[in-house]
Amino acid sequence: MSDNAKIKIGNKEFDFPIKKGSVGPSVIDVSKLYFKTDHFTLDPGFTSTGSCESSITYIDGDKGQCYYRGYPMDTLAEKSNFLEIAYLLWYGELPTKIEWDEFSNAIKNHTMVHEQIRVFFNGFRRGAHPMAIMVACVAALSAFYPDSINIKDPEQRRISARRMVAKIPTLAAMAFKYSLGQPFVYPDNTLDYSENFMQMCFAVPAEKYKINKVFAKALDKIFILHADHEQNASTSTVRLAASSGANPFASISTGFTSLWGPSHGGANEAALNMLKEIGDVKNIPQYIKKAKDKTDPFKLMGFGHRVYKNYDPRAKVMQRTCHDVLNEIGNTDNKLLQVAKELEKIALNDEYFIEKKLYPNIDFYSGITLSAMGFPTAMFTVIFGLARTVGWLAHWKEMMIGNKMKIGRPRQLYTGPNPREFKELSKR
Ligand code: ACO
Repeated sequence: MSDNAKIKIGNKEFDFPIKKGSVGPSVIDVSKLYFKTDHFTLDPGFTSTGSCESSITYIDGDKGQCYYRGYPMDTLAEKSNFLEIAYLLWYGELPTKIEWDEFSNAIKNHTMVHEQIRVFFNGFRRGAHPMAIMVACVAALSAFYPDSINIKDPEQRRISARRMVAKIPTLAAMAFKYSLGQPFVYPDNTLDYSENFMQMCFAVPAEKYKINKVFAKALDKIFILHADHEQNASTSTVRLAASSGANPFASISTGFTSLWGPSHGGANEAALNMLKEIGDVKNIPQYIKKAKDKTDPFKLMGFGHRVYKNYDPRAKVMQRTCHDVLNEIGNTDNKLLQVAKELEKIALNDEYFIEKKLYPNIDFYSGITLSAMGFPTAMFTVIFGLARTVGWLAHWKEMMIGNKMKIGRPRQLYTGPNPREFKELSKR
């Protein structure tokens, strides 16, 4: 195969290098396109555009596989734990015992947030969406920890990353408690990462809280499944924000902003609402019809993915995790799960969904699971963001240490008015 691609414009031909990755499709490097041809590419939604080189996560969308640093993500979800994945994504390798002890202790040492942040919370109204609180509070960390915002200093980068991995669960639990009108629960560093988060969310001072190990394990898996997913909207947003040299806390907060949308992290909330709206297996055909109707904006939430044109591997693990949680609470004939399974069966056999390669994605079962564990829908995206923080951080570091860091500055196809003359108000 040629190592060059040719582009012909008029009667002139231009060569562009083809670059090969370690696996997956090659790319045509068009970074010199404008310089050579006076043309830009146009690709809204980046459907055919790579924005960077990365060695963190690889997705094979056709086969429905996803790998973190070369390890199959579903194996990691079964055999590893979330903090180990945070280490793997940041450093590129799984930790040795000594590295694990150092890292997990360091995260534990950073779980508390500055006391002033508690005061900061009082400014939000009680009904504020916890994602609104997260966007604000994660960015506000830069006001509390100005000693770790020099992005050129590897040690400061390391500290700010560890601070975020440790403190974001504390902030997320505080956002939850604030919405309930309950007192904040301080972190307990004798617990592991997911157990600590559950305790901060569900414990109250008046009662002894007993951690449900099945739920804590399920939550840890949910964190792993959401830890990274290469250049998705929120990760690309973090990269773009950080490309200007913005500080790490401000950059990671943009990930929360982007994740909040219903086409991305908000889809699990939307999927659960949809299952509730369908309500009964007998109503499914009518919703399938709506989803296929071009004149109806309704989409089957939790179905379809930009990259996966096969069953999302995360959805498979998520389905099993959902069963574990429902078994634990003795709710095996859960109505929403029945609707979800039947909907999945019907859609997977329907010509429309087969032809468009629309399969269940991770969000299809995560809402039922989180809800069964006691989380309200407004917390779903927060939990996703908490987990994705480790992915955003790994991408942020990769960009900082790479030798190709450039401010992200896309161009456009301008379709507005041609240059024209300004007229004074009296003459218009
Ligand atoms: N239900 C019905 N039809 C669908 C669905 C769906 N869930 N998803 C896509 N389609 C149709 C589209 O209408 C389109 O049809 P057309 O070719 O006749 O115009 C075709 O399938 C291709 O879909 P696009 O929207 O162009 O695909 P894209 O890659 O841009 O979008 C997306 C992917 C946003 C995930 C989309 O499938 C969707 O909106 N799904 C529902 C929301 C959802 O579950 N999001 C979670 C994504 S995973 C995550 O963020 C963790």
